[in-house]
Amino acid sequence: MKFSSTIIFLIFLLVPSLKCAFRTGHRHDWYEKNRLKVSCLQQDDPVGRNAVSRCWFWEGMKSWFRRTSISWYPEQTKTWNMTELTAHCDKYYTCMENTKCYKDFVLFETLDRCSHDAFNIGPMSFCYSTLRDVAKNFPDKLSSCVKEHLDATPTRKWTCEIAQDLGNCLLPDVKNYCEPNFLPIFKEHQDSRMFNLGCDGRLKFKDMEDLKDHNATDLVGSSVEIE
Ligand SMILES: *[C@@H]1O[C@H](CO)[C@@H](O)[C@H](O)[C@H]1NC(C)=O
Ligand SMILES: *[C@@H]1O[C@H](CO)[C@@H](O)[C@H](O)[C@H]1NC(C)=O
Repeated sequence: MKFSSTIIFLIFLLVPSLKCAFRTGHRHDWYEKNRLKVSCLQQDDPVGRNAVSRCWFWEGMKSWFRRTSISWYPEQTKTWNMTELTAHCDKYYTCMENTKCYKDFVLFETLDRCSHDAFNIGPMSFCYSTLRDVAKNFPDKLSSCVKEHLDATPTRKWTCEIAQDLGNCLLPDVKNYCEPNFLPIFKEHQDSRMFNLGCDGRLKFKDMEDLKDHNATDLVGSSVEIE
């Protein structure tokens, strides 16, 4: 009797402190602290953080399923417009934005990662395989930057310069060798990248300027469905 009440007493004592240790110890494990606004990380305001974890889990999972579907059946994307191709990214973005917790540049960079990924594994994959055939059979026909790009491992850096250079590099050979009806979507995708990454001047990321000392691309960790 005495023994069990001691145990119960100990449990009562331990549970809150364990809970506390769990919360402070693991709160940021599944997302990068640097991705969120400071106001959101304050301990006494869990609403935003809870919303972030819900988004991360539910929308992230749905987005991942959509990505998997595209990568297994890329043919389905041949008839899709950009809106259809990136619907899952837009939903994820909207959920993240509604938390009011994410830094702006993180939101838009995540959107770009997701839509660029969907574009590459979807419609662009057919163009890439055409370009690879050309590179194999007529190596002199392609521009050297395209050949380099086909051999290179995908970059983990997300900057205007890299996105712009890649678009400019690919455009002439996409025009020459890929299906003509693919060209509009290629251009539309490139324009949306320039917008999302803040390269065309329409978006200005205040919170990115606050981080001038750091490299923004290093701060944005991989999210659940992207990479
Ligand atoms: C994209 O396709 C969907 C479905 O066919 C259509 O409802 C939508 O209006 C299209 N969007 C654009 C921007 O063309
Ligand atoms: C930021 O990037 C530049 C160029 O890529 C590099 O030289 C520099 O060391 C990086 N700074 C940090 C803090 O990682």
